[in-house]
Amino acid sequence: MLEGKVVVLGVTGSIAAFRAAELASKLVQAGASVEVVMTPSATEFVTPLTFRSLTQGNVIVDMFGGALEHVELARRADVVVVAPATATTIARLAHGLAEDMVSVTVLATRAPVLVCPAMDSQMFENAATQANLETLRQRGMTIVGPEVGRLASGRMGLGRLSDVETILGAICYVLGRGGDLAGRKVVVTAGGTREPIDPVRYVSNYSSGKMGYAVAEAARDRGAEVVLVSAPTALPTPYGVRLEPVQRAAEMRDAVVRECRDSQALVMAAAVADYQPSATAEQKMKRRAKTLSLKLTRTPDVLAEAGKGFVRVGFAAESENLVANARRKLKSKGLDLIVANDITGPESPFDSDTNRVVILDRAGGEERLPVMTKYEVAQRILDRVVQLLAKGS
Ligand code: CTP
Repeated sequence: MLEGKVVVLGVTGSIAAFRAAELASKLVQAGASVEVVMTPSATEFVTPLTFRSLTQGNVIVDMFGGALEHVELARRADVVVVAPATATTIARLAHGLAEDMVSVTVLATRAPVLVCPAMDSQMFENAATQANLETLRQRGMTIVGPEVGRLASGRMGLGRLSDVETILGAICYVLGRGGDLAGRKVVVTAGGTREPIDPVRYVSNYSSGKMGYAVAEAARDRGAEVVLVSAPTALPTPYGVRLEPVQRAAEMRDAVVRECRDSQALVMAAAVADYQPSATAEQKMKRRAKTLSLKLTRTPDVLAEAGKGFVRVGFAAESENLVANARRKLKSKGLDLIVANDITGPESPFDSDTNRVVILDRAGGEERLPVMTKYEVAQRILDRVVQLLAKGS
């Protein structure tokens, strides 16, 4: 997503400036070409050399050394990210003041601009800051954060710079607007459902949710409106994705049915528990008898009840006869595509960041993919979804 993109990173004078170094590094790792502009006060916190070393590029602080070159930079940018953005910089941007290289660049660019505030909570909540941010929002800039956390003063409050992962997600979201899924709604499910036995125990599986979250991110990065119906996972909600948290298969079914009414695609990456305890004990079950049998009842089949009129993609996690079993599921569930993965052996996808899959279609097609990251797998699945949508419309 970020490969070959020109990201101009504007760093301003906040204690959070050191976190912009990590952001710059992650952007470079993702293949972006990163150009850094700093306000003089930012250099009090982090030196230009830090950014020069991380990005292998020029770092511009001085307003009077080749201003035209700087305007050229604003023109070449695919996206401008001001992180951290202080109250002063936000005020300058709102009033169009070209007083330092960061405000000059934002004033001169036509690229999308992300502003990531970081300041004391009282400064953030001040009516002046709020009005300035509202002005920026109305002019089409994207405001990312701030978040609640520990501030420079040592107090907890709203004003902490968003996590680097969140800012990266926001950059992908902004760059992806207008992609080949723009104007489409995609529903994605993820994680292993939890079927309660009593207030403290449940039946579930090893699913980490990583595959579904990768599909949600990839769909967002292609411009889709994404709803992620997720069973509990340890993963952060991707920026720009609407999360619908659920626990049980029945709750997942309800959310999927509701969200699919106006969607164009459903990708069922969730590992839905096939059985649920026939009854859930209201109180914690006590350790008494030597053996205990749990009576289980089938859960609803979410895909079967999801409805029709949109592209339907299922997953098949198999421990034997991968392709044959997956093809049977493709047919019996009436899917457009099924993504088959072998859950045994060294390439087991559980909790892994990579996956090796075969994508099967209705026409008998079989696309065998090598081991790739789950995000790359997600993009390949969505390539097929886009093709199907193009045929259908
Ligand atoms: N699925 C579903 N509802 C269920 C079970 C599964 O919607 N109650 C979906 C999964 O999200 C997946 C696909 O159906 O996209 C296949 O899931 P899988 O567990 O492999 O298949 P099952 O239908 O449960 O078949 P089996 O247990 O026989 O392997």
